[in-house]
Amino acid sequence: MFSSSYSDNHSFPGFSRRDFVKTMLAGSTLSVTALNKLNASVYQSITSLNGKYIQDEAPDGRYWEVIRDKFMFQDGLIMMNNGTVGPMPKPVFNTLMKTFKMQATHPVDVYAYLPSQIEGVRRAVAAFINASPDEVAIVRNTTEGMNFVANGLDLKEGDEVLLSSMEHPGGTHPWKIKEKRYGIKITEVPIGLPPQSVEEFVGQFEEAITPRTKIISVSHTVYISGLISPIKELCKMAHSQGILVVADGAHAVGMLNLNMKELGVDFYATSPYKWLGAPCGVGVFFVRKEAQEKLWPTICTSGWDAEGSAKKYETLSQRADALILALGEAVNFQNYIGKDRIEKRVKSLAGTFKQKLAAIPGARLHTSEDPYLSGGLTAFSIEGVEPLDIVEYVRQKYNIVIRTVGSKAKGTYGVRVSTHMYINHREVDLLLEGIEAVAARRG
Ligand SMILES: Cc1ncc(COP(=O)(O)O)c(C=O)c1O
Repeated sequence: MFSSSYSDNHSFPGFSRRDFVKTMLAGSTLSVTALNKLNASVYQSITSLNGKYIQDEAPDGRYWEVIRDKFMFQDGLIMMNNGTVGPMPKPVFNTLMKTFKMQATHPVDVYAYLPSQIEGVRRAVAAFINASPDEVAIVRNTTEGMNFVANGLDLKEGDEVLLSSMEHPGGTHPWKIKEKRYGIKITEVPIGLPPQSVEEFVGQFEEAITPRTKIISVSHTVYISGLISPIKELCKMAHSQGILVVADGAHAVGMLNLNMKELGVDFYATSPYKWLGAPCGVGVFFVRKEAQEKLWPTICTSGWDAEGSAKKYETLSQRADALILALGEAVNFQNYIGKDRIEKRVKSLAGTFKQKLAAIPGARLHTSEDPYLSGGLTAFSIEGVEPLDIVEYVRQKYNIVIRTVGSKAKGTYGVRVSTHMYINHREVDLLLEGIEAVAARRG
């Protein structure tokens, strides 16, 4: 049973091994040419739709139905937990299959061909998040990026790091080990559920700064509350005092139209298997050019001393390059739709959900209603209702997957819902119907 006190890797109610075996797909037996053709036809259909349906992102309709059809959900699964693991669209799965197939059929290509493709992926990822290719390292996940920052900075005993009160273990423990090993000091800054304004959020951190503060380590996408932290404003304040900022954006890539130059952040870690549609096992780690000289690589083989490129943070020797190529395909897939359009769609679905939820007696939103301070994750609680009851009810009744988050002790316990672009308003209404039904059972 999943526990709110945390690890995102625990089992969830309603899942079985049977589901996993049934999901093995026929695409894996197709030839490389056939898989390439399939991908070309997916992109052709999206391109022709783009021409036909220039419309508001809010309503459902042909456009989003066709996009939904590019995913492969099994048995009517309604996946509203991208915050843990999201689905791969068909082209990404096809690319993964064709690339993994190389190792089975012609392993020479694994070392003679695949590495030559990596720079193309790096460029595509960099353009996607508005960074320079020299600032992008392709790592394994957010946790790895956060560890690289905590391990790679020269901090001395007594130097301070500010963390928010709602960080994920992947963003907290790298600092805890550093605290134990080197005597740095961690200060936890409380943040609201939700904060009422950008000023409130930034002000809390500003107040906690001391002459020994060296870095602020904070989530861009807060997993407990769905807050989108105002990183741009936080960086302005921190940089004016010579303090670095690392953002844990685990959920951000593929959900928000990310722009590293605009955020102005020093380090940024994100997990593209949640909202971007990449496979698990590949992550993106951004290190601003000016910050690279301050950050030592942690894992290394030759290449760690390369000057002027974030490539030095990914010298991992032989890797599963198939995952990296699939990451490139995931970027490609979203580019065909348009990342701005995706962010608007995601936020519009979340906005509808929030508005309708407010009509349920006892409902309390843990997520801001301000679209600047929120994205596709919405967390809430209903007075007198056990969050897990809602999660189990909607899974059994509608095949909707959501989850509990937070902790009772800290007053953050609730339900978390994600609204990715493939979700439609009928499904949002079904979810609300389920929430209402559980709420109505209250004594
Ligand atoms: C905010 C946040 N940070 C970090 C992580 C860890 O991500 P990963 O397992 O990809 O390293 C998660 C996972 O859900 C998360 O929600």
